[in-house]
Amino acid sequence: MPALVLLGAQWGDEGKGKATDLLGGSVDYVVRYQGGNNAGHTVVVGDQKYALHLLPSGILSPGCTPVIGNGVVVDPAVLLSELSGLNERGVDTSKLLISGNAHLITPYNITVDKVTERFLGKRKIGTTGRGIGPTYADKINRTGIRVQDLFDESILHQKVEAALDVKNQVLAKLYNHRAIAAEQVVEEMLGYADQLRGFVADTTLLLNNAIDDGKVVLFEGGQGTLLDVDHGTYPFVTSSNPTAGGACTGAGVGPTKINRVIGILKAYTTRVGAGPFPTELFDKDGEALRTIGGERGVTTGRDRRCGWFDAVIARYATRVNGLTDFFLTKLDVLTGWEQIPVCVAYEIDGKRVEELPYSQSDFHHAKPIYEMLPGWSEDITKAKTFSDLPKNAQAYVKALEEMSGAPISAIGVGPGRDETIEINSFLS
Ligand code: GDP
Ligand code: IMO
Ligand code: MG
Repeated sequence: MPALVLLGAQWGDEGKGKATDLLGGSVDYVVRYQGGNNAGHTVVVGDQKYALHLLPSGILSPGCTPVIGNGVVVDPAVLLSELSGLNERGVDTSKLLISGNAHLITPYNITVDKVTERFLGKRKIGTTGRGIGPTYADKINRTGIRVQDLFDESILHQKVEAALDVKNQVLAKLYNHRAIAAEQVVEEMLGYADQLRGFVADTTLLLNNAIDDGKVVLFEGGQGTLLDVDHGTYPFVTSSNPTAGGACTGAGVGPTKINRVIGILKAYTTRVGAGPFPTELFDKDGEALRTIGGERGVTTGRDRRCGWFDAVIARYATRVNGLTDFFLTKLDVLTGWEQIPVCVAYEIDGKRVEELPYSQSDFHHAKPIYEMLPGWSEDITKAKTFSDLPKNAQAYVKALEEMSGAPISAIGVGPGRDETIEINSFLS
């Protein structure tokens, strides 16, 4: 039975939540392995819509155990409010497991995120302001606070004080911000300890045993390949590794245990926050994609930048993740265009370039080279099989598959759980 990684192949918001939820019914464990509540994953079940930020989307499938792995950064206040929000809607969240090694987003990490962005002014990243980058920076700097620290008051005290010793200097002298009292932070954090204790487990041991016992384990990425701190459009990235290797480090599972890596790919492209985006549209087509696709951030409510499909990026995602399959989402949004441009390569300094350039300046200057594909006007939201799609929609999917370098095994034709065409099973 497989261990699968499901991740974003573009700049996030590809529809990972829906894809994870769809598989959730046949999966034993769904594991978040990086990121935090910067994610916004929408799941639509019948007439109910859920927006999940920190919890794995598998939490909505009763048979599935949701796991927050060691690579995730956890804001305890957000976690508890997300849990109680789901409980109020009748969702059982008691099976949740959290790694004791996951790092905690502290109130001072959130402050640092906000003041740094303000300080950067025009050069800002456009972060979600959730404290993600500063928390990962503390982790790498070895000054982070982990979930397990909540259960040892004296250690928590020492660690928070040590972290604030330096941070308060920076906050006061560089950012002109008042100092943060360690005592207050410790008190707040300790207030979460009892509520979280029951969820904490040795998730690495548990997941490895589960895989060895033939259980189905799904690793759910937050963000997307181009937001990866190593492989994305640095510095306009998030501070973790959404790419496939991140599932191994972020959950404590070796690469030999992973059978399949599924890239979630939107039939066009979107991005939130700053940074280069070669196929971005500033015209009525961009506005139409935003309106028809409902492209507004689930976490920050910002409008998403929209553009045509970029095959260079999709090929890159196949390469750096070793993708075995794609799940193409939001094909229905493209209904109604007479012709649909698809970026097949870039022009950089007068030369045609087929692969994503490693140089950031080249990428900033990349101009899309488009091929026009014929559109369709029929409603496709009721399509259940590939052959139900109009011929031109079939040809669009086949062209994207050819250009992107991995088979398209499922197609989303609407936001609902059942609005999906399954071509090859992900679980065989
Ligand atoms: P995620 O962050 O990758 O989980 O994606 P988001 O939830 O931020 O954004 C994807 C949006 O597209 C959500 O509103 C989904 O309900 C919606 N969605 C997902 N798949 C489809 C699809 O195939 N068609 C349409 N129309 N909407 C979809
Ligand atoms: P999901 O999981 C889209 C973007 C932010 C910003 C950059 C850094 O819903 O696909 P951060 O707060 O992480 O330090 O911000 O990354 N970003 C996302 N964009 N979808 C997301 O998550 C994102 N999470 C972070 O907009 O540009
Ligand atoms: Mg999202």
